[in-house]
Amino acid sequence: MFYILAIESSCDDTSCAVIDSNFCVLSNVIASQQVHKEYGGVVPELASRAHQQNIIPVVDKALKDAKITKEQLSAVAFTRGPGLMGSLLVGVSFAKSFARALDIPMIDVNHLEAHVLAHFIKDTPEQKVPEFPFLCLLVSGGNTQIVLVESARKMQIIGQTIDDAAGETIDKAAKILSLPYPGGPHIDRLAQEGKPVLIFSQSNIKNYDYSFSGLKTSILYTLRDKLKENPKYMEENLADIAASVQKAVVDSLLNKFEKAIKDTKIKTIAVAGGVSANSELRRRLQELGAKHKCEVFIPKFSYTTDNAAMVAVVGLFKYLEKDFAHLGLTAYAR
Ligand code: KG4
Repeated sequence: MFYILAIESSCDDTSCAVIDSNFCVLSNVIASQQVHKEYGGVVPELASRAHQQNIIPVVDKALKDAKITKEQLSAVAFTRGPGLMGSLLVGVSFAKSFARALDIPMIDVNHLEAHVLAHFIKDTPEQKVPEFPFLCLLVSGGNTQIVLVESARKMQIIGQTIDDAAGETIDKAAKILSLPYPGGPHIDRLAQEGKPVLIFSQSNIKNYDYSFSGLKTSILYTLRDKLKENPKYMEENLADIAASVQKAVVDSLLNKFEKAIKDTKIKTIAVAGGVSANSELRRRLQELGAKHKCEVFIPKFSYTTDNAAMVAVVGLFKYLEKDFAHLGLTAYAR
């Protein structure tokens, strides 16, 4: 048995996890930064400062929770990108010095690959994991992609957004409704009491690509027109508006995903990223799986958002192939 420690610091969560060589997670500590709430979005400079403060206590706790010492580690994995440069640099620099001090290899991890492979994080040794190939709908604040996962080391993006991401669209709608940032969980909660009575216009571009800018504009214009008729329209219809926004985004996401399922005939499907916490998306993905006789993988809530356990999984796959990083590498934002 050997152990890998992983660091994630690409945006506003400082996280450290330890997994064993069977992909079982021994600890996954996440320090979320509250400082951004009052600004309505992540402030990069504040994020990197908070990472700097959090990283040592988070690593310390992850080792304690895992009940191992740092001398028992075989490698250190870290998110190299994409993400906020200042935030990434904190994790990358820490990983480099930690690995050097312990004289063990370090492994660079792509953040998006980590989200896709979050389905391989095991809480128990018997836990089922997806078989290759599988199709993954990756939906987060900054990305919307359909990924064909041929193996842990071979992925192909077969469709992606040409403008805004699904999470960004939901957050923008939430902002118009004066809901706190990030708006996704608030829209989800409100939508459960509403009906999707508003129809927004949606773009349908070629292949498996997405476009959300038209939907964003349609939400803005529809609400503007409603407010002209009734200045209290938003406060009186909050739940229905939330349900309508949620439905429009989920419809958009799943239309293209269904097309990919039909065309590729792949029978294992998955969802990943922050927006995969959405209850409507989770429910409708199960329905889609049943309709096409696919096995469906939906991550645990704690693995939908940024976490180091998913980074550790990619780290372990790369460790098994001795694919290590050299000391000269640096972070990449995009
Ligand atoms: O992957 P993630 O944690 O990080 C970024 O890519 O930034 O995704 C964050 C996104 C935000 O847009 C947030 O509003 C959305 O995930 N989100 C949700 C829900 N929970 C988080 N969107 C819809 N429904 C939710 N329950």
